[in-house]
Amino acid sequence: MNTKRLQETDVEIFNAIAMEKIRQNEHLELIASENFVSPAVMEAVGSVLTNKYAEGYPKRRYYGGCEHIDAVEQLAIDRARQLFGAEHVNVQPHSGSQANAAVYAAVLRPGDKILTLSIENGGHLTHGHPKNSSGMLYDVVHYGLVNGTDRIDYDQMRDLAEREHPRLITIGASAYSRAIDFELVAEIAHSNGAMVLADIAHIAGLVAVGLHGSPVPHCEFVTTTTHKTLRGPRGGMIMCKEKFAQIIDASVFPGTQGGPLEHVIAGKAVCFLEALRPEFKQYQAQIIGNAAALAGAMLARGYHVVTGGTDNHLMLIDLRTVHGNVTGKDAQVALERANVTTNKNTVPHETRSPFLASGIRLGTPAVTTRGMREKEMLKIADLIAMILSHMDDESVAEDVRKEVLRLCAEFPLPY
Ligand SMILES: Cc1ncc(COP(=O)(O)O)c(C=O)c1O
Repeated sequence: MNTKRLQETDVEIFNAIAMEKIRQNEHLELIASENFVSPAVMEAVGSVLTNKYAEGYPKRRYYGGCEHIDAVEQLAIDRARQLFGAEHVNVQPHSGSQANAAVYAAVLRPGDKILTLSIENGGHLTHGHPKNSSGMLYDVVHYGLVNGTDRIDYDQMRDLAEREHPRLITIGASAYSRAIDFELVAEIAHSNGAMVLADIAHIAGLVAVGLHGSPVPHCEFVTTTTHKTLRGPRGGMIMCKEKFAQIIDASVFPGTQGGPLEHVIAGKAVCFLEALRPEFKQYQAQIIGNAAALAGAMLARGYHVVTGGTDNHLMLIDLRTVHGNVTGKDAQVALERANVTTNKNTVPHETRSPFLASGIRLGTPAVTTRGMREKEMLKIADLIAMILSHMDDESVAEDVRKEVLRLCAEFPLPY
């Protein structure tokens, strides 16, 4: 057996990881879907559990030697149930996309109709995009946003549910800054014979602490990632009513996955324990406070923040009002040069291709994890505006980069 450490075994991977560690330490991470896990989560994910096969579920495995694995997975399940008040939880999905695919496969047949929010309006690929299996396998109808306010059009959802008779309505988004009315969606679905999949991948942390309304009491299925506001390891999870427990479990394994990633499930369990502590609620409240401060500061500089602001951890900045010639892609590249990491994003009423886009998406979970607060958000808005107003000015980029390095040094990461 090779007992050498990584540096000796594979210096190229060792160096790439070392460089990534420096990048994470020295950049302002404003990608709304990213976060920094605690050292405890990191330790669990890097543990010997990666060595173990455990097809099946606790006490019902296809492999021997699973007694400790069973303890880990059962703790993850019990803590997730407590955190979200869910009747049944499956912690095995490898990702948010796998979780959604497993729910679809459990309750839909190819050709069945689903009613969803398109990616152009803030939805996710797995909500029926033609290049995703959800769009290939199922008959997709989209509801949209209200013209003028850019908020989810629940009236249109109701009209389409009455006319199209979908089997499932999905609700949830990757780029939507307003609170979602899960109870209303469930009422629309149930009065039209449909079920609901609520995808809380982005807002799970806010939901867990009650700072966003929960879909769990209202919707048949709730999926999430564990690595965004929830601040756990990269992965997915499904919650459902007890009566769907068997079909959901069977749809994850053996339906769509094989052996579970028990080292990641251990990381999920640690994340859920952290999320059950009172400090986690303060953290989530600070994420929201920071997002409100950042959105307010961007609005004050004349930027169009889609919907006029944010209720959650993210915002979409439509660049067209202030910088008509600057695409989302240009903005992302210019900000990156100054160590500010964002992503380009299409905006409602988009006039450019998704590869260029007219907006950028900003989120506060990661900078909040570093300990930054409203004061730093005002500084960050200044830095962003400085770059966007001087797109090709190397000296401005260098000045901003120095400021970013100073901020990052003041709020270091624990690894
Ligand atoms: C709303 C939503 N659902 C699902 C996913 C998919 O998660 P993953 O990237 O883990 O497959 C994402 C990821 O961005 C998301 O935003």
